[in-house]
Amino acid sequence: MSLTFAAPGGLTGRVIPPPDKSITHRALLAAGVASGRSRVHNPLDTGDCISTRRCLQALGVEIEELHGRQTGISLEIEGRGLRGLREPADVLDAGNSGTTARLLTGLLAGQRLFAVLNGDSSLRSRPMLRVVEPLRQMGADIRGRNQGANLPLVFAPARGELRPIEHRLAVASAQVKSALMFAALRAEGRVRIGGAIGSRDHTERLFEFLALPLQRSPRWLTLEPAAEVPCFELTVPGDISSAAFPIAAALIGGGELLVEDCGLNPSRLGFVEVLKRMGARIEIEEQRSNGGEPVGALKILPGPLSAVEVEPEEVPSCIDELPLLAVLGAFAEGTTVVRGAGELRHKESDRLEALARLLSAVGGRVELTEDGFALQGPQSLASGRVDAKGDHRIAMAAAVLGAGIPGGVTVAGFEAAAVSFPDFPGMFRALGGEVS
Ligand code: S3P
Repeated sequence: MSLTFAAPGGLTGRVIPPPDKSITHRALLAAGVASGRSRVHNPLDTGDCISTRRCLQALGVEIEELHGRQTGISLEIEGRGLRGLREPADVLDAGNSGTTARLLTGLLAGQRLFAVLNGDSSLRSRPMLRVVEPLRQMGADIRGRNQGANLPLVFAPARGELRPIEHRLAVASAQVKSALMFAALRAEGRVRIGGAIGSRDHTERLFEFLALPLQRSPRWLTLEPAAEVPCFELTVPGDISSAAFPIAAALIGGGELLVEDCGLNPSRLGFVEVLKRMGARIEIEEQRSNGGEPVGALKILPGPLSAVEVEPEEVPSCIDELPLLAVLGAFAEGTTVVRGAGELRHKESDRLEALARLLSAVGGRVELTEDGFALQGPQSLASGRVDAKGDHRIAMAAAVLGAGIPGGVTVAGFEAAAVSFPDFPGMFRALGGEVS
C-alpha cells in the first residue's frame, strides 16, 4: 500500500497513542506463566503483540478476548504457572517481533518441553546469541542456526532446574535483560544481572508490581527464585514511542498538540528530553500510575527547533526515536549529531541505512558513521517516494517527513506501520494532515 502524507496547514489537536508495545508483550508473557486468571486491558492488538499472543496460545495458554463498549479490548489470560507451559505441536512463530523472540527465549529456556522458535526473514537475521549465551550458562539446551546466533532456535527438554548466574550485559538491551529476568524466576538460586542495565525498565516495574523477588540497585538487578507469579489486572498506557511521531510532525508544522493517556516511564522519555534541548516547549503532567507505570499527558507547543547532540549514554532511552530525530534534524538550525547508536543497525531493518535512504529520497543529506549520524539543517527538501521495506518506524518517520515538505512524501509499503500504530493514517488526518 502506497500512501502520500502531507500537512500544508501543519498538524494540531489531541491524540491518544496506541497501547504500549513493550508493556503489552511483558503483560501477556507474565500472565501466561502466572497462577490463575489475569486481565490485561487496552493491550496493543496488532502485529508484534499478536505474535506473542499466538506463541503463548501454542504453548497451551488460554486467552479470551473481551470487548467493552467503553473500555475497548481486554484479554483474559489463564496462566499455566511458571513450569506449566505445554509442548507446542508446531514451530512457534515470532513473526517480525524481536521482543517476542527474545523474551520468549527466556521463558522457554529450561522448560521440560521441546520447542522450535522461528520468525520472518528480518527477525531471522537479528542477533540472538546475546540472549542464548547467558541462558546456556544457566544450563538451558538451546541450539540454533549459526551456533545459536540466529533463529530458528531449538529448545531441548530440560533435565534439571536453571542454574544461578551473575551476568554482565554487554549491550543495553531491554529485551536481553528481560529474557534473563523471566528465566531467573525459575532458577534454583540467585541471578544477578549487571553491566548495561540502564535500558527501559518495564519488566522491573512489572515484577515490582507483582511483588516478585527482585532487588534493584544502580549497578545490579538481583533476582531470587519465585514460588509463583501471581495473577493480576492492569491497563496498558499509550506508547510514548508511537506518540513521538505526531509530536515530531506537530513540531515540524508549528502546531499545538495534546497527547493523553500516555506512558511516562522515565526510561522511555529520552526523546522528550532531546526535543527540549532542541528548543521544543513540552509540558508533562503525570496523572496516575498503572501496573507500576506512570501515566499522563504531554502538551507540545510550537517554536523554532535548533540542532542537538545525542551522546551514547542517552541512546537507550530514545533508541526507537532516533530515525525520527534525523527527520527533525533536517528542519533544525545547525548540526545534529548522534553517537553510540550502533544498535540501530540490528533493528527491524538497518535503521541507519534506512534513515539515510529516507532523507536522500527527498533531496536531503546525512553522513552516516558506524554507530550514528550527523546532518546539517535546515535542508531544502522536495517531495519524493520512499519504501518502508517492512519497518514500521521507518514508514512513520517518512510520513512525518511528509508533514514538512510541500507536496508531501509517498511511502510504499505503509502497511508496515500497523505493527505498532494500527491507524496512523486516521490519526494523521484527524490532526489536519492529508493522506492520499
Ligand atoms: C524493546 C526494546 C528495544 C526496542 C524495541 C522494544 C522491548 O530493543 O528497540 O522496540 O520491548 O524490550 P533492544 O532491547 O534490543 O534495545
